[in-house]
Amino acid sequence: MRLVKLDAIDSTNDFLKDLIRQQNVENFTVISAENQTKGKGQMGAVWNSEQGKNLIMSVLIKDFLSDPKDVFDLNIVISLAVIRSLEQLNIPKLSIKWPNDIMSDNKKIGGILIENSFKSDQSIASIVGIGLNVNQTHFENLPQAASLALITRNTFDKEALLHLIVDEIKGVINSWETDTTTLKENYSNLLFNKDVLMPFQKTDLSIFMGIIEGITATGQLKIVSENGTLLDFDIKEVKMLF
Ligand code: BTN
Repeated sequence: MRLVKLDAIDSTNDFLKDLIRQQNVENFTVISAENQTKGKGQMGAVWNSEQGKNLIMSVLIKDFLSDPKDVFDLNIVISLAVIRSLEQLNIPKLSIKWPNDIMSDNKKIGGILIENSFKSDQSIASIVGIGLNVNQTHFENLPQAASLALITRNTFDKEALLHLIVDEIKGVINSWETDTTTLKENYSNLLFNKDVLMPFQKTDLSIFMGIIEGITATGQLKIVSENGTLLDFDIKEVKMLF
C-alpha cells in the first residue's frame, strides 16, 4: 500500500483526484493529512477538523465498482470496514446514520465522502474520503459531534487506525462477491435508529413519523410511515430529525 502523508492540504480527496489525473496510481493508495484547509463533507458541507488531532484520509479504490447503478455498494463496504475497525478499538454503540455517518450512541464520530470518476473505458475509480474524530476533545458549536477520545477517555494512534481501516476495506472487498447478501444485511442492521419510530422531514419541509426498515438495492432509505405506507428516499429527499 502506498501512503502519502501530508502536513496540510486543501482536501485529501481533491489531492488524490489530481494525482490520478496526472499519473497511474495503484489501487489502495492512501493520502493522509494533519490538516485540511478546504475539507469537504457530504452535500457541499465543510468538514472541519482540529490540526493534527483526527484521521483525515482518502483511499483510491479501483476495480470494485463496474456499473454506475451499483455505486452505493462502495458506501456499504466502507461503512462496514470503518465500523469493524472501531469495534476492534472497543468503541461502544456503533451505528451508521444513513447513508454513511459513523455514530457512537447518538454522536457523530466520523463521515465518509466517496467521489467516483467514470472513465472513458467504462471503469470507475473511487476516491474514498474518510474523516474520523480521533483525539479532538472540543467541538465548538457541534453538539452532535464526538471523538474516540471523548467517548473512551483514551488517545489513539491515528496511523495504526489508518492501516486497520485499509486492511478492513480490503477484507470486505475480498468477501463482497461471495457474501454480498450478508454484508448488505449487516449494513442494514447497523443503521442508526433502525426500527425506532422517529420524525423525518421531506424536502417540502413537511414532517412525518416513520420507522427505518433498511435500504433498497440501490441504497435508497426505506421508511415505513406511521400510516403504513412504504417510502423510498434518495439522500437529498429526507432528513432525520433527532
Ligand atoms: C461527511 O460526513 O460529511 C463526510 C466527511 C468526509 C471528510 C473526509 S476528511 C478526508 C476527505 N477529504 C475531504 O475533503 N473530505 C473527506
